[in-house]
Formats: sequence, C-alpha cells, structure tokens
Amino acid sequence: METLELFEAPAQDPCQRLGPSALVLRGFALPYVPELMPAIEIVEAASPFRHMVTPGGFTMSVALTNCGALGWTSDRRGYRYASIDPDTGRPWPVMPEAFSRLASQAAKAAGFEHFEPDACLVNRYTPGTRLSLHQDKNERDYDAPIVSVSLGMSATFLFGGQARTDSTVKVPLRHGDVAVWGGVDRLRYHGVMPLKDEPHALLGRQRINFTFRKAG
Ligand code: SIN
Ligand code: FE2
Repeated sequence: METLELFEAPAQDPCQRLGPSALVLRGFALPYVPELMPAIEIVEAASPFRHMVTPGGFTMSVALTNCGALGWTSDRRGYRYASIDPDTGRPWPVMPEAFSRLASQAAKAAGFEHFEPDACLVNRYTPGTRLSLHQDKNERDYDAPIVSVSLGMSATFLFGGQARTDSTVKVPLRHGDVAVWGGVDRLRYHGVMPLKDEPHALLGRQRINFTFRKAG
C-alpha cells in the first residue's frame, strides 16, 4: 500500500505563530477527545445549543451554549456574561474537568501559566455558518489569554489586527487544533469563514469550538 503515502497530509509544524503572544498548537487537543465528547453531551443536555440574537437584531448562524460559572450571551440589549442560562433559568452547567485541564495545559504550552477559565463558550458550526470579525472584549480584564479548541470539520480562521479594517491572515483550524492569543495580541480581531461541507469522520457535518476565557 505504498501509494497511500502519496495522499497523506504533509507533516505539520506542531506550533504556528500568529503573533508575539498568539499561536496555534496543532493537534494539542487530540489526546483529550475521548473525554471531551461525552462531556459535551452532558453540557448540551443541561443547556441546549441555541441561536442567539445580536444587538443589531440578527440571529447568529452559529449555535451556542456555555459551561462554567459564567456564560457569554447576546440579545437585543447587548453582549454580556451571565451566571444564569436565559433559556433554562438555571446556572450554566459546571465546566467538565477535562475542559479546564485542556485549557490550562494549552495556555501553559503557549506561555501563559496558571490560566483558570471561568467561562467556556461552546460554538456549533454546520456547513455554511460563519462568525464575522470581532474582538473578545466582554471580559473584565485582558490579562488572561483566550484559548480556542477546534473539533470536527475544518474551518478557516481569520486573524486580524487591533482594528477591524486591518488585514487578516487565513489560518486553517482542524480537529484537535488549539489557538491561544493573549498579551499584546489579546484584542486582535478574529472570525471564521463560512464552513465548507466536508464531513468529519468522528463529528460528521459539524464543527464544535470551545472558547475558554477568564471573564469575571
Ligand atoms: C470565537 O471567536 O468565539 C470562536 C472562534 C472559532 O470558532 O474558532
Ligand atoms: Fe471570539
């Protein structure tokens, strides 16, 4: 079966730098996947995925839920963190231990020691969905990094500058990749291009993204 080698993906650099304090750790989350999958189901059972409305009145194409002490929410009144899920009236589900362990280990590998997230936004993308350019700036302080884990279908991440109009680089994010940005890169604009319909072996026609923050 030697010919198969011709079709294998080229060996990837384990770490792709996007800025002085921003990088992608290729495949970093892969060893955690067996623990993450059942944990997502537990979170989703308590606080189902839903499509939130932006302050501008648009319904987001990406569905989301949260776990941890604080959850990111959006409605006509704005973006904010809240301890109660507005759909269930109950606190967001507890952050699974495997989630917080992955987040702090990835942060450490990227040079951010002692990252203890209190919020995990879980985004679910299906083919054609996208996330427009934005900054993560609803958190109380910007000392802690953002840790973003990709599972399932591949996406093209757009990583820009400090202003919305700055040019962006296109970064492929695949199953198991973890992007981390903090420090001088903490407020850089970022987004996700419309997802191509290329089903993933384990997750099918979806991409799950966890975005860990220290929000409160
Ligand atoms: C986000 O910025 O909230 C999500 C980024 C991603 O899905 O990779
Ligand atoms: Fe973001």
